[in-house]
Amino acid sequence: MRSLVLLFGIGAAVYLAAQGTPEPPKQPVPYSHKKHAGELKLDCKFCHENKDPGEIMGIPGTAKCMGCHTSIKKDSPHIAKLAETHTSGRPMPWVRIYQIPSFVFFSHRAHSEAGNTCAECHGPVAERDALRKELSTSMGACMDCHRSKKAPNDCTFCHEARN
Ligand code: HEC
Ligand code: HEC
Ligand code: HEC
Ligand code: HEC
Ligand code: HEC
Repeated sequence: MRSLVLLFGIGAAVYLAAQGTPEPPKQPVPYSHKKHAGELKLDCKFCHENKDPGEIMGIPGTAKCMGCHTSIKKDSPHIAKLAETHTSGRPMPWVRIYQIPSFVFFSHRAHSEAGNTCAECHGPVAERDALRKELSTSMGACMDCHRSKKAPNDCTFCHEARN
């Protein structure tokens, strides 16, 4: 009975998480990956540094933006908002797009070193203006790729053993 309840719980969670989101969330300023990573050809790692120990890619602080926007497009209201936030010392309130629960192990560096590309999990980001969650980060999605790339799929590979 307990295992049935557990299975049902997993099923519901997998079902709910299987969808991406249809619309991009409203961000504090209309930052465009297509402009910056596409047209201006800025490298992903210029902004997403993957600091040690390498689990997270990270979201850049306003100082990174102001390196250019102290002079570029200063008269834009969006850039004015960026500059104000920078001066205030507060972080930009970006709405997060890809997020998994903290009880799941996940490392960007380990995935990059195993040859997985950003696009396999996040889509063609450099072609997008506003980002939305276009690929799933559900347990089912993780396991599908692990199965196809012959990576382990034991429960304890992604979850701490509890007994
Ligand atoms: C290497 C220089 C560079 C960096 C770094 C940079 N930008 Fe830009 N950004 C540009 C250029 C060039 C444009 C296009 C300006 C134009 O349309 O004339 C632009 C345009 C924009 C616009 C559109 C402004 C408007 O009203 O048209 C926003 C918003 C913006 N950037 C936000 C950011 C944010 C947020 C960051 C940091 C995460 C950032 N930029 C980092 C060069 C940069
Ligand atoms: C100029 C800085 C800059 C560059 C270059 C850049 N990004 Fe970003 N990225 C941002 C900012 C700012 C955000 C938060 C706003 C947003 O979601 O659009 C972000 C958000 C993201 C997110 C969503 C994070 C979340 O909330 O879960 C992904 C995925 C991402 N970037 C991937 C990439 C990839 C892949 C590349 C290279 C093709 C790249 N980025 C290049 C600045 C940058
Ligand atoms: C194997 C799938 C996978 C690959 C490959 C991958 N990501 Fe992610 N990304 C994720 C997941 C899952 C999350 C949510 C992580 C969390 O909540 O802890 C995420 C979150 C992010 C975030 C939000 C900040 C953070 O670190 O949590 C950014 C930015 C990002 N990824 C950028 C990138 C870039 C740039 C690349 C390529 C260098 C990349 N990702 C490669 C799956 C992936
Ligand atoms: C695009 C394919 C792909 C996706 C999607 C993917 N993985 Fe992986 N993952 C791999 C590969 C390949 C490895 C390397 C396996 C090995 O080294 O034997 C790996 C390794 C791992 C590792 C071990 C890394 C380490 O720290 O040594 C964990 C944990 C993991 N994945 C969890 C996840 C989780 C959680 C998700 C979903 C949020 C996910 N993966 C999504 C392909 C993927
Ligand atoms: C490749 C990585 C991976 C493997 C292997 C894996 N899981 Fe998960 N699991 C996840 C991720 C990612 C989530 C979170 C999905 C979400 O809600 O975003 C999750 C969520 C869960 C949850 C929580 C459901 C809820 O209610 O939030 C349970 C329970 C669970 N997994 C059990 C298991 C069991 C049992 C196994 C072995 C049969 C297993 N997992 C194997 C990645 C994995």
